[in-house]
Amino acid sequence: MSQLFGPETFRYDLPELPELDDLFSPNGVILDAQKRAAELFGSSETWFLVGGTTCGVQSSIMATCAPGETLILARNSHLSAISGLILSGAVPKYIIPEYNSQWDIPGGITALQVEKAIEELKEDGKTAAAVLITSPTYHGICSNVREIAQLCHSHCIPVIVDEAHGAHFRFHPEFPSTALEQGADLAVQSTHKVLNSLTQSSMLHMSGNLVDRDTVSRCLQTLQSSSPNYLLLASLDAARAQLSENPLGIFNKAMDFSLEAKGKISRIPGISILNLLSFTSGFPAIDPLRLTLGVSQLQISGYTADDIIEQKLNIYSELAGSQSITFAINLGTQSESIQRLVSGMNHLSATFYQKRNQLCRNADKVCAPFDDITMKLSPREAFFSKKRKASIRESFGQVCGEMVCSYPPGIPVLIPGEVITEKALLYLLDVKKMGAAISGAADQQLNSIVVCNV
Ligand SMILES: Cc1ncc(COP(=O)(O)O)c(C=O)c1O
Repeated sequence: MSQLFGPETFRYDLPELPELDDLFSPNGVILDAQKRAAELFGSSETWFLVGGTTCGVQSSIMATCAPGETLILARNSHLSAISGLILSGAVPKYIIPEYNSQWDIPGGITALQVEKAIEELKEDGKTAAAVLITSPTYHGICSNVREIAQLCHSHCIPVIVDEAHGAHFRFHPEFPSTALEQGADLAVQSTHKVLNSLTQSSMLHMSGNLVDRDTVSRCLQTLQSSSPNYLLLASLDAARAQLSENPLGIFNKAMDFSLEAKGKISRIPGISILNLLSFTSGFPAIDPLRLTLGVSQLQISGYTADDIIEQKLNIYSELAGSQSITFAINLGTQSESIQRLVSGMNHLSATFYQKRNQLCRNADKVCAPFDDITMKLSPREAFFSKKRKASIRESFGQVCGEMVCSYPPGIPVLIPGEVITEKALLYLLDVKKMGAAISGAADQQLNSIVVCNV
């Protein structure tokens, strides 16, 4: 490592010396850096995170929901939200997002769906302790956070936004509004994903006073290492400093590259581009720097397309799905990368589209895996219950004991405590056959599933 990175790297990998402040009781350089970030990102307070957005989402849930209280969230939330439910003991009230089966991609959620969830809870004599929204989704679809926040605030319910993929939204006039600008109480951003800090470093931003800041701090301290890495912390401050130099122009080039890529790729036969019209719910915005390309007309899966462009052309996508591949354009993108992406898509089109005409790949269309959920145990009850392994055939109808996702995007298809449906099993087996990696299951081959002994 010394040869690769230079010995200087290790000189800065420091412990918590007096001059270097304390992440969990900051009153020196860390406090100063967090205050500067708060000013830039428009929050009342910002916390630097060394456990990624994962620990920010988990802490936000713990800070707002006590054991047994209800969290309203979309069923396509990232696995960090489900582990947040396990840690806090909160009970989920799921909203099923609109699902585009042609693309095999879920969208966001609407204020109407949140209102319905609040009303249904009320009929059961319950109230929601918080609402968690993922906006943008991994594919860049934004929900109307403004409307949802107004609705929730009229019921005094705090709104947490998993904004892992939207840390750049404040830095170009044509980007969607940020969660905080729209009224969110807590917003967690993966600075390391879309801005330039080191992997694992994220920020949690707060606004208003519906959530208690001391509780948030306590939860963050509970979930993070007592030896936070200073290279990660410094990289968050550096990312902030870089943005501060040119806050409204820094993404100009990336925006130009995105327009150029979309213009060229839209003319390639057999490749389609995901846009807001792919959904009927009227979502207000899509991240212009996320490029999701449909390949189903080429008669190949997104996983196959991804393998081909990676092996032949050294093009690395952000994520592959059964029908699509998603690319992220950002500050590091070069003109040459865009040309390579366009030639990769031309290569796929020339190889697979022209040869096989325009047959539809109906055989491989996949259904929404989670629109018929029955929860027998809360995620926490299931997590701590006695379990056993059941064969796939035997597991159908049993209570799931593990969190099973295709990864990326890390959206659980099976959640502990839910009854295992045929649809969820078929979905997992289908995408696995097409080339998806399965994460979270003890048996990665999916010959068996861990179920609860109930
Ligand atoms: C929507 C969403 N939320 C949260 C996370 C977790 O972020 P991190 O990797 O920063 O822990 C991810 C990671 O991919 C994600 O896609």
